[in-house]
Amino acid sequence: MSSAKDRAEDKTRRQSVIGACRDMNRLGINQGTSGNISLRHEDGMLITPTSVPYDTMRPEQIVFMKLDSAPEAGQRPSSEWRFHRDILKARPDVNAIVHAHPPYSTILAIMGREIPPVHYMIACAGGDTIRCAPYATFGTEELSRHAVAALRDRSACLLAHHGMIAVGASLAKAMWLAVEVETLARQYHGCLQIGTPPLLSKAEIENVRTRMAGYGVGDSES
Ligand code: 13P
Repeated sequence: MSSAKDRAEDKTRRQSVIGACRDMNRLGINQGTSGNISLRHEDGMLITPTSVPYDTMRPEQIVFMKLDSAPEAGQRPSSEWRFHRDILKARPDVNAIVHAHPPYSTILAIMGREIPPVHYMIACAGGDTIRCAPYATFGTEELSRHAVAALRDRSACLLAHHGMIAVGASLAKAMWLAVEVETLARQYHGCLQIGTPPLLSKAEIENVRTRMAGYGVGDSES
């Protein structure tokens, strides 16, 4: 039997997921209910329900799922629960996952383009590129495999013909990164209108990564 303190904590975490969903739309990185968010919780995850408008989403509609199983009968987690679960299983460093269809990231994803090192801030996503995972139907195991592979040594990836995933040690960090990725996508898209942008070297991105340790939103913030 959980204590009143545990129940209050549980509700706060569910509310933080709903708050982040509303922020996604307010920040223009998602439209309607096409995104989804998960947060590691005990031996499982809290994940947004499928197809529920963020404005009316209630804490009790956030689904708790164990990481070693599929949804229970009656549960209606996001249709993308597989990649949320599989990323959390594969990446002990990750506690929160933000998936959205931000306009510029999705334009590049439709074109099957990764984001190259056009700006030093790409280092925030863990390397000199933000990969674009091959297309697979939403909600499938195949998409989940592609997403986990594209996120190897990275905190963000694009999904071809689909959208973007950003992960972090905290929900605040994953949200911060989601906005950064969309900014980078927009900058790269803008450069492509002018010509072929010059790129920073892999060595310089490594240099930036070292200098950046601890930069941005703190890992401990939820
Ligand atoms: P939900 O099932 O989370 O509403 O999903 C929509 C979506 O983003 C599919 O990729």
